Amino acid sequence: MGYHTLIAKSPIIVEKLAVIDRVAKTDASVLILGESGVGKELFAEQIHLRSPRRDASFVRVNCAALPEGLLESELFGHVKGAFTSAVTNRQGRFELADGGTIFLDEIGDITVPLQAKLLRVIQQRTFEKVGSDVSITVNVRILAATNKDIEALVAQGKFRSDLYYRLNVLPLYIPPLRQRPEDIPELAAFFLKQSMLETKKRFDGFSDAAMDAMLSYAWPGNVRELENCVERSCVIGKNKWIDAEDLFLKKAVSSFQETGSRNLKAAITVFKAHFIQKVLEENNWNQTETAKVLDIQRTYLSRLIKELDIVNPKE
Ligand SMILES: Nc1ncnc2c1ncn2[C@@H]1O[C@H](COP(=O)(O)OP(=O)(O)OP(=O)(O)O)[C@@H](O)[C@H]1O
Ligand SMILES: [Mg+2]
Repeated sequence: MGYHTLIAKSPIIVEKLAVIDRVAKTDASVLILGESGVGKELFAEQIHLRSPRRDASFVRVNCAALPEGLLESELFGHVKGAFTSAVTNRQGRFELADGGTIFLDEIGDITVPLQAKLLRVIQQRTFEKVGSDVSITVNVRILAATNKDIEALVAQGKFRSDLYYRLNVLPLYIPPLRQRPEDIPELAAFFLKQSMLETKKRFDGFSDAAMDAMLSYAWPGNVRELENCVERSCVIGKNKWIDAEDLFLKKAVSSFQETGSRNLKAAITVFKAHFIQKVLEENNWNQTETAKVLDIQRTYLSRLIKELDIVNPKE
């Protein structure tokens, strides 16, 4: 599979890439953290591509995609007859990644027994195929990622602390898009160019109103949401420029600026909805926590959510 182009304009991301350049030279494990859609997989690719292992394989494993038994044989391989459907010997991803890098995505989702096996690979680079007692040793650099609060998982006993410390030798936190708005115009232009090729449509770019709307939106789904939004606007757009309406970004503060309304009550309502939504996002849509932060009653908050029609875009 090919690699992605990583757009980096904001000082915060440019700085992350400088860190990656240094980290890439080592063989240390890196745990990439950050909300869903911030680009964790792209940063993992960059660590591999900027490392001495760049010409060897980069093997991706989505640990959340398979049940425990299948994930184990996916990672370590199996021998013929190890289980009913094991009709041939099979190499695991760790063997395929020998000499290169393995990227364990959604690491927060693996079960505790599998965490124990993984810990051994990390410590000794040694494992056995399912159904075999022959040890295999590989030379693999391990990268992992999760959008879960892994420290909370450790505290709850759902993630082994020794594995966490081993993986977390070099933590790399990718901030959400709303904390690096300088990336938005560049990313939007990049995605528009791609969508124009796919749809064979042609736009001159984004109108000022569209750009303002994108810059003031909170992007709870981060870069993935921006990508989807631009793709959709490219399909919908009928004019020379992508306009704010084509983006369907509800709840952006700029929406009342565009309508030209100077009614104070209406403006306060829009602001209130936007502000509450932001605090909800910051608190993972936990209403009890959000009410505490806003210093209002929990029941009053849920009434406001209904009245102002505030929705969690991820639901
Ligand atoms: N800096 C960037 N430049 C270009 N494209 C990006 C960038 N960051 C993210 N993307 C794009 O956004 C989408 C989401 O990125 P990615 O899959 O790496 O996110 P993630 O952090 O792994 O999310 P999740 O936790 O949901 O798996 C991808 O299509 C990716 O190509
Ligand atoms: Mg991912």
